[in-house]
Amino acid sequence: MSVESEILRRRTFAIISHPDAGKTTITEKILYLGGVIKEAGEVKGKVGTKAATSDWMKMEQERGISITSSSMNFDYQGLRINLLDTPGHKDFGEDTYRTLIAADCAAMLIDAAKGVETQTRKLYEVCRLRKMPIFTFCNKVDREGKTGLELIDDVENTLQMKCYPVTWPIGMGGRFKGLYHRLQNKVYFFDRDRDAPEIVDVSGPMDSKISMRVDEDIFLQFNEELELLEGVIGDFSQEEFLSGNVSPMTFGSAKYVWGIDIFLDLFCQHAPKPQARATRDGSVDPLYKDFTGFVFKIQANMDKKHRDRVAFLRICSGKFERGMKVKHMRLGREIRLSYANQLTAQERETVDTAYAGDIVGITDTGNFQIGDSISDGKDVHFTGIPRFSPEHFGRVVIKEALKKKQLEKGIKQLVDEGSIQLFYDPAVGWQDPILGVVGLLQFEVLLYRLKDEYGLDARLDRMNYALARWPFDSNGKPTRTIKTSQRIWNDAHDNPVLLLEQEWDLKWLTKDNPDIDFKMNSSAD
Ligand code: G4P
Repeated sequence: MSVESEILRRRTFAIISHPDAGKTTITEKILYLGGVIKEAGEVKGKVGTKAATSDWMKMEQERGISITSSSMNFDYQGLRINLLDTPGHKDFGEDTYRTLIAADCAAMLIDAAKGVETQTRKLYEVCRLRKMPIFTFCNKVDREGKTGLELIDDVENTLQMKCYPVTWPIGMGGRFKGLYHRLQNKVYFFDRDRDAPEIVDVSGPMDSKISMRVDEDIFLQFNEELELLEGVIGDFSQEEFLSGNVSPMTFGSAKYVWGIDIFLDLFCQHAPKPQARATRDGSVDPLYKDFTGFVFKIQANMDKKHRDRVAFLRICSGKFERGMKVKHMRLGREIRLSYANQLTAQERETVDTAYAGDIVGITDTGNFQIGDSISDGKDVHFTGIPRFSPEHFGRVVIKEALKKKQLEKGIKQLVDEGSIQLFYDPAVGWQDPILGVVGLLQFEVLLYRLKDEYGLDARLDRMNYALARWPFDSNGKPTRTIKTSQRIWNDAHDNPVLLLEQEWDLKWLTKDNPDIDFKMNSSAD
């Protein structure tokens, strides 16, 4: 297959949801349908289920949550699908948001009983800012929940995004009978005791092939709902979907594998091919001849014995070949990409070739940071890889003073991974830095990993800061020339930054410094 055909068959997406909506379950079922896994329960090593491969995942197992995110791929209907896993704990960190940057579209998973929940809303915001196309899957229709109309209302009102129902449930909960496919004029009848649905062609929602098989009240309600919908919903527009204005909505149950193949078919039909990516000098098209990409995630010590570190790279254009030499833009020198992996569930497989749209994990000895760009041709600097203003701050204190070096090493590692941010007093240097995180869970992960990987008994003294702001002058350059009595700190890359206790402080700063832009992150773009 030509490089162009390989690129054009890539589809890269992430699932966004609130914890417990069923992301792990649906991921498993998707990977199962994609032929990646043979049995359910292989994806997340919850307590008592199949053991995960790395020590690092011990904490996830103990807590039954998914902290790290990785990417898995499989072939389906001739497409190569890359599914990025986004951590789903309520207190998750920045890398969840950043993972979305590596995707071209998202599937929003909603618990049909609960509707749009907080975490989904936050993740949706990130998608919206990027105008990312979003599919909506209303899960758990096997349980009593909101009606389809209530769910549409909820999504439209909470997220200000229009929904286009592709399927419509016939009954809900214990009385759920099946899904009416509005575009195919088919009904998928499901049964808890049967693996595959019975698929029946119908002339429309009033067809007696439906009324014959469902209770009258359910049939009437189903028809009433559809009648209402048809009155307000126009035709599906792929353009509106691709610009993130309308979301095709399907229903189902991940637990019983109802509606998952319908979702996958819809996905294959409409999900966008790899999208062009913004750089400092215009955008890079995926079919551009040079190989280019950016690092959106770094994960260290997946295997403690080898102290290895993996930089996850989104390929933005061209073809990747193992062993190729590329230019590392930040370092300004050539490096060889000798070891690269892709993840298939929890197996890591060496990859020899990969294409724009794919995610590869490059084994890294410390060259990479989040946001780094590489290219085997002309220079490119990808932009828009977000950093977020931390909301929780603290200092790490260790009991054994002699282990300060170890502590510095551990903290540096976690800073490189992008899960914590570091601030220091330029007059004093890197000793005793202040650490900041977006989600509190990251502090727990920090202490756990300092103990597990560096043998350090540490505690965290919380500080009263609540926000960080990076000052830029009117030329868009970082500046220290500010009218303020606040201390100006440095971040890990030596950019000036202010740590503030409350929004009020920011208001004063802005008032006293009308020419200064106080940004929520250190990047000028
Ligand atoms: P998450 O990754 O989004 O946090 O959710 P996860 O898949 O772990 O699912 C959370 C709970 O919801 C699990 O129940 C799971 O079985 C259940 N679930 C997922 N999809 C469906 C569905 O379509 N219908 C129903 N009824 N339940 C669903 P649990 O009790 O926490 O765990 P388990 O013992 O069932 O595995």
